[in-house]
Amino acid sequence: MSTPREEAARRRTFAIISHPDAGKTTLTEKFLLYGGALAKEAGTVKAREGRRSATSDWMDLEQQRGISITSTVLQFEYRDCIINLLDTPGHRDFSEDTYRVLAAADAAVMVLDAAKGIEPQTLKLFEVCREREIPFLTFINKFDRPGLGPLELLDQIEETLVVEPTPVTWPVGIPGDFRGVIHQGTGVYTRFERTARGSTMAPEEEIDAERAALEEGPSWDMALEESQLLIELGREVDVKSFLACESTPVFFGSALTNFGVRFLLDGVVDLVPAPAPRVLEDGSRRGLDEPFSGLVFKVQAGMDKAHRDRIAFVRVCSGKFERGMMAIAGRSGRQFSTKYAQTMFGQDRETVDVAWPGDVLGLVNANDLRVGDAVYVGAETAFPPLPAFAPEYFMRARVKDTSKFKQFRKGLSQLDEEGAVQVLRDRDLGDQAPVLAAVGPMQFEVATYRLETEFGAEIELTATPYTIARRTDAASTSALRAMQGVDVLERDDGTHLALFESRYWMDRVVTDHPELTLVRMVAEGGLA
Ligand code: G4P
Repeated sequence: MSTPREEAARRRTFAIISHPDAGKTTLTEKFLLYGGALAKEAGTVKAREGRRSATSDWMDLEQQRGISITSTVLQFEYRDCIINLLDTPGHRDFSEDTYRVLAAADAAVMVLDAAKGIEPQTLKLFEVCREREIPFLTFINKFDRPGLGPLELLDQIEETLVVEPTPVTWPVGIPGDFRGVIHQGTGVYTRFERTARGSTMAPEEEIDAERAALEEGPSWDMALEESQLLIELGREVDVKSFLACESTPVFFGSALTNFGVRFLLDGVVDLVPAPAPRVLEDGSRRGLDEPFSGLVFKVQAGMDKAHRDRIAFVRVCSGKFERGMMAIAGRSGRQFSTKYAQTMFGQDRETVDVAWPGDVLGLVNANDLRVGDAVYVGAETAFPPLPAFAPEYFMRARVKDTSKFKQFRKGLSQLDEEGAVQVLRDRDLGDQAPVLAAVGPMQFEVATYRLETEFGAEIELTATPYTIARRTDAASTSALRAMQGVDVLERDDGTHLALFESRYWMDRVVTDHPELTLVRMVAEGGLA
C-alpha cells in the first residue's frame, strides 16, 4: 500500500506554453510516443481530424480559428514517474485560462520556434508564468529547419524575459542541419537519426569526441567550443534559481523528427518539482498525507454534444482520491458524491477510480464547484483565491429574439461561472442588457458562438465606451457613479467593478479620491 507522499514523489505535473504553431501539439504527441503504459496511442492528440469532428460544438470554432480553448489532460508513464501534462490555450485572449491551468501545475515547458525565437504570445504567456512564479523549462523546437543560431536564441531569452538561460543540451550542426546534442552535464555527444516523419523514436548513438571530430567536422568543433564556453561562463543548470524562476534550463530539439525529445522528458523527470504540500488561505500547508483535497482550476461545459454536462477540473493536492467518496464542495460547504470522476485524454473520457497528489480529475456535474474552490474530505480547507484578470474589453449584450430571454440568461450564467467571459450587470437594469467583460476580444466570439449553439440564444453585441476596470465595493459605488465617464457594475458573485473610459481618467480618480476602493487586478493594462 503506497502513501500519498510516496505517490506524489513519483509524479510530475506540468503545462506547456507556446505561441500558436511553435509545435505544442506535435511535442505533446511525441511525449506520448516516448511515454509508457498509461498513454493512449500516440495519435490521440494529433488525430485532429478525429478529435475535431468528434462532437463538441465549439471545437468547430476552434477549427475555424485555429485556436484551442478546451482543456485536456494527458497522463503517461516515463521512467519510474507518472507525468501529468496539462494543456493550455495558446492564444493570449485566453491568458486568464492559462493562469488558472498554471495554478494546477508545478512547472511549465515553454516551446519556442527556433526560427522565430520569442514571439508576442510566448512573452505574454511567460508573463503569466512569472506572475504565478512557476519554474519553466525551455524547449527550442524546429531545429531541423533553418533558423536563428543557438547563441542568438539564448540572448533573446535573456534579454526579453530577463531570465538566465542555462542549456542542458547544446546542438551540434546548424539549424537546418541538426545532427545531435552535447549533454552539458556529462559532455556526451548523442547523434540522432531521422525516421520517416518521426513516427517512431529517433535512433540515438553516443559518439566519442574523436569520432565526432572526424565525422561532423567543423560543426563539431564549433559546438564543442560554444559548449565549453558556456560552462566557463557558469551557464550551468542551477536548481535553486530555476525554482525561483530566475533561470531556465534549455533543451534543443525537433518535435517533428523526435530529436531531443527524450532529453526534454528526462529534464521533466529530473527538474520539475514533485507535488509538495499546498499553501492554504490561512498560510498553513496541508500535508500530502492528509485526507483528500483538491483545487478546482477550470470549469467547462459543452465540451461534448453527446454529454451535455459540466466538468470541474480538479488537481489533487493531498491524500488519496477514491471514486465514490463523499467530498465537500468548499464554497457551499455541501457534501456530494464523487461517483462521476473521469480523466480526459483529449476528447476521450475514462472513469478514474483512484488519484494521488499531482493528478487531475474531472468531476462531472458537481454543480456547486467554481474555479478556485477547494474540494476536500476532513478538516475544512480553502486555497488562496485565484486573482481575477483585469478585463479590458467591454461589450453590451442583448438577445436578438426576446422569446429566447430565458436561454440567454441561463447561457450567460453558465459562461460567467466558467469564467469564459465576465457578466456584469447594472443593478437597476437587471438582465436586459448586461455588459460582457473580457481580457481579449476572442472571448466574445466564443461567448456569442456558445450562446447560439449551446443555448439557442442569438445575441447582438454593441460597443461601450469603457476600456479599463478596477475592483471596487458597495461603499464606493455611489460616489463613483456620480462621476462622468465611470460606471459601476456587479457580477453575480457580488464583486463590484468600476469601469472607466480611459486610463488617464482612472488614474485621476485614483489620485484625487484616495478614500475610494479601487483595487488593481492581475495584468492591468495588458501583460508586459
Ligand atoms: P501548435 O500546437 O503549437 O500550434 O503547433 P503544432 O504542433 O500544430 O505545429 C505547427 C506546425 O509546425 C505543424 O505543421 C507541425 O508539423 C510543424 N512542426 C512542429 N514541430 C516541428 C519541428 O520540430 N520541425 C518542423 N520542421 N516542423 C515542426 P503544419 O504544416 O501546420 O501541420 P502538419 O500538416 O505538419 O500537421
